Amino acid sequence: MKKKMGPSDLFFPTPAALVVSGEAPHFNIITIAWIGMVDTEKVGIGLLKNQYSLALMRRTEAFTVNIPTSRLFREVDYCGIVSGKDTDKWKATGLTPVPTEKTKIPIIQECPLNIECELEREIELDDLVLVVGRFVETHVDEDKVEKEGGRLRIDCEKMDPLVYFAVGNEYWSVGEKQGDAFFSGLKIKEKGKEKKE
Ligand SMILES: Cc1cc2nc3c(=O)[nH]c(=O)nc-3n(C[C@H](O)[C@H](O)[C@H](O)COP(=O)(O)O)c2cc1C
Repeated sequence: MKKKMGPSDLFFPTPAALVVSGEAPHFNIITIAWIGMVDTEKVGIGLLKNQYSLALMRRTEAFTVNIPTSRLFREVDYCGIVSGKDTDKWKATGLTPVPTEKTKIPIIQECPLNIECELEREIELDDLVLVVGRFVETHVDEDKVEKEGGRLRIDCEKMDPLVYFAVGNEYWSVGEKQGDAFFSGLKIKEKGKEKKE
């Protein structure tokens, strides 16, 4: 039996990313859970219309998305409950800004994966703005990648990304690897073929 919950915000898991925006010397960090890939080149971010960070992103038309490790849950939470309007979140959290070349928006040293984005477009949705960013550069900790057939593969276990369980307002880490995308389903596909033959 299923229990009907009606329309709700019970959608999870999501990342809890740290998004950096602004201009030197006042760069700011905001915590974002309404975030996801739109396609291989773009990210979508939902921001409340009155967010200070939205104004900063609009000013430079660029930002960085930083994926924290599970151990950074306190810093992530802090950046989501305090505004950069009147606080220096870098100082308060001890997170380290690293300058970038393409967007000139810093990435966060302590986050193993960092993506520089250019603001491509905005879509207004009631009291929310969906910001679409185009990936222009990706940075990853050297010790969390390995070469695999000419391609770089990120080691998920080493990266230990933070997972946000929105339903319970809790921070989690990921569990064990279960399979390989575009391969794991082949077993069922092959079985289906057998049945038909
Ligand atoms: C776990 C978590 C997730 C959040 N996700 C979002 C989000 O996706 N969009 C948003 O507008 N605010 C989100 N917030 C709220 C902002 O992070 C919060 O309002 C923050 O203080 C704004 O910072 P700023 O004023 O420095 O821009 C989230 C907060 C937390 C704790």
